[in-house]
Amino acid sequence: MSVAVNGCDDQVFVYALCRVTEAAARAATGLIGRGGRGGTTRTAIEAMRAELDKLTINGRVVIGEDCDDTDDTGVPSGLELRGGGADGPRYDIVVDPIEGISYLARGMTNAMAVTALAPEGALFDPGPAFYMEKFAASAEAKGKVDPTAPTQVKLGQLSSVLNKPVSELTVFVLEKPRHRELVGEIHNAGARVALYPAGDVAGALMAALPGSSIDALMGTGGAREGMLSAVAIRALGGEFRMRVDPQLTTEKAAVAKAGLDTESWIGLDDLVTSDSVHFTATGITTGLLFEGVERDGKMERTQSLLISGPVAAGGAGRRQLLTTWHELPMAGNA
Ligand code: FBP
Repeated sequence: MSVAVNGCDDQVFVYALCRVTEAAARAATGLIGRGGRGGTTRTAIEAMRAELDKLTINGRVVIGEDCDDTDDTGVPSGLELRGGGADGPRYDIVVDPIEGISYLARGMTNAMAVTALAPEGALFDPGPAFYMEKFAASAEAKGKVDPTAPTQVKLGQLSSVLNKPVSELTVFVLEKPRHRELVGEIHNAGARVALYPAGDVAGALMAALPGSSIDALMGTGGAREGMLSAVAIRALGGEFRMRVDPQLTTEKAAVAKAGLDTESWIGLDDLVTSDSVHFTATGITTGLLFEGVERDGKMERTQSLLISGPVAAGGAGRRQLLTTWHELPMAGNA
């Protein structure tokens, strides 16, 4: 069940949270299509931080993004937010000022700014794990698809619960060398693969949303992106599971040292233990879920997806697509 955030109505709060991702998205547009030579991610990170500081909550950034210096202008992991007063409830926050930076540098679709928030202690801590294997699908698949089963079996189970032949299933997979075998298995099973070079938050959300062109997400991606997806999908009521899957040598050693289990799949109820969650994402470049930042005369237009957990136990979460026109600073006033 969802609770009001520090006396502030959930609906009002999610609009405030949206300003965090709107600001980051607008600040990131200078990087679009410049191959990494259009500046740094710093402007987006700083814009996100400035709006986070305005939120009327107390909380800690559990997965953040810092600027490469010692100034206190980034959103580092461990950053404390103290806008909620002495006795306000505390929240854990995950941010990604630019999800899909490689997309952005190449001027491609699907880059977005993302933020997710849950009550303190409600989020799984991936520790030093940078990569996790993921499975996402819509609510019908909840508990009905065994993530440990061979790909062909998983697709058969998904086909039954979605009442759709395997040949009509489309699986979102990140286009990475590590997924060559997985892609072959999906094709051999007769299903389609939608390959994207980056951006598995969009892939996971598409998989969880009924009626989208994507039926499932499979494969390994970032732990940060996994936790952002987990929050949104918890609120949407879809299916999402993850397994710690370190890829880098140093990461493997750190994961082993931290004693993290790399065998078991973690269900959504353990990834996010509360329904009182909020998620906002704002498009930087146009993608699967919404449009990117566009100039519209003297205004700038953003599109954002706002998701909040169910207001009543057993109810459905609230999902909104918000288009906002922002006034551009007058020339000379910037
Ligand atoms: P960027 O690093 O370009 O922002 O890409 C983000 C992303 O594609 C995520 O969506 C995904 O979870 C992760 O990177 C996968 O990491 P990698 O590209 O190292 O395989």
